Amino acid sequence: MSSPVAVLAVLAACLCGVPLPVACSDHLNYRPIIGVLAQENIVGDPHAQGSSYIAASYVKYLESAGARVVPIKINRTDEEYEKIFNSINGLLLPGGDVDLQTSQFSRLSKIFYDLAIKANDASDYFPIWGTCQGFQQMTVLTSNKNLLTLTDTKAVALPLTFTPASQNSRLFKAFPSGLLQSLSKDNITSNFHSWSLSLQNYSRNAKLKSFYKVLTTNTDGRREFISTMEANRYPFYAVQWHPEKSPFEWVDKPGMVHSAASVRASFYTAHFFVSEAMKNHHKFSSASEEERALIYNYSPVFTGLDGLLTCQPLLPPSPPDPAVSPLVW
Ligand SMILES: *[C@@H]1O[C@H](CO)[C@@H](O)[C@H](O)[C@H]1NC(C)=O
Ligand SMILES: *[C@@H]1O[C@H](CO)[C@@H](O)[C@H](O)[C@H]1NC(C)=O
Ligand SMILES: *[C@@H]1O[C@H](CO)[C@@H](O)[C@H](O)[C@H]1NC(C)=O
Repeated sequence: MSSPVAVLAVLAACLCGVPLPVACSDHLNYRPIIGVLAQENIVGDPHAQGSSYIAASYVKYLESAGARVVPIKINRTDEEYEKIFNSINGLLLPGGDVDLQTSQFSRLSKIFYDLAIKANDASDYFPIWGTCQGFQQMTVLTSNKNLLTLTDTKAVALPLTFTPASQNSRLFKAFPSGLLQSLSKDNITSNFHSWSLSLQNYSRNAKLKSFYKVLTTNTDGRREFISTMEANRYPFYAVQWHPEKSPFEWVDKPGMVHSAASVRASFYTAHFFVSEAMKNHHKFSSASEEERALIYNYSPVFTGLDGLLTCQPLLPPSPPDPAVSPLVW
């Protein structure tokens, strides 16, 4: 006969589940570890040392909200990625400038996205966050197509236009009303992208439309595009704008914002995503394995303030041996 504890656990598993794979236990993981994908260096980047990088701002962004970071390097085997997946509590797909269908970054994204879908379907809550290129990559992963279109949004700070659906969103639910007001009125979200998912292409694609709920949009004056979305049935979130830049990047260019409200918006997005990761209970197989995987093993490299500012922040050259570095302290 099963023990009362087991019966309770089964009951709880049955009661949660729909529509999102709810984290069934009240018990949260207060030592969340989030994987951040590395990507190929930008061709011609004068600062590049190795062949891949992670921008330090994403690492600091997650750390500021109470998570630790594991870098996920390119060019590893599927088995290695699956092992990492089962050790981390969430995944961040950063901004950058690689091909969304042929790069190593896109290959890794697909491996982790597929694992996350499978895990969530089995009530193993696993959140994903995409920023800028990460947002764009998620649209390709979900639709199996590149449906992006060019917009005039290479260096501009915009206010968000909230949809009615945003009011019941998980992402914005706990944002203070004053902050939501700033986000909707002031030019505090940094846009550094040439490509966007137009509302039109989203609406015409059955997969995207059923998978994601649009929370905010923007326009470049010609096309309305999606700036924030969350998945209906999965803890997946994507922003076309750059919350990590306001507190952690200092290139002096149009579109960069460092106002108190922009920094607050940055923190609230990070805090939200880290709270999601706290619902996951994956673990490294030992403390020493965890220690070896953490980004603390790498030294960031300062790449100067003259950064190539496209979708991505400044480039962190990789350290000599390890293929990945957080960038710039
Ligand atoms: C829709 O996607 C196609 C690519 O499949 C792209 O060429 C086109 O510009 C997009 N149109 C809009 C309005 O976004
Ligand atoms: C502020 O946002 C508006 C759109 O609401 C945009 O037209 C304008 O260019 C932005 N201004 C700056 C300084 O980024
Ligand atoms: C990944 O593989 C490609 C092609 O095989 C190679 O050019 C690149 O240097 C490798 N990068 C890393 C970080 O191992």
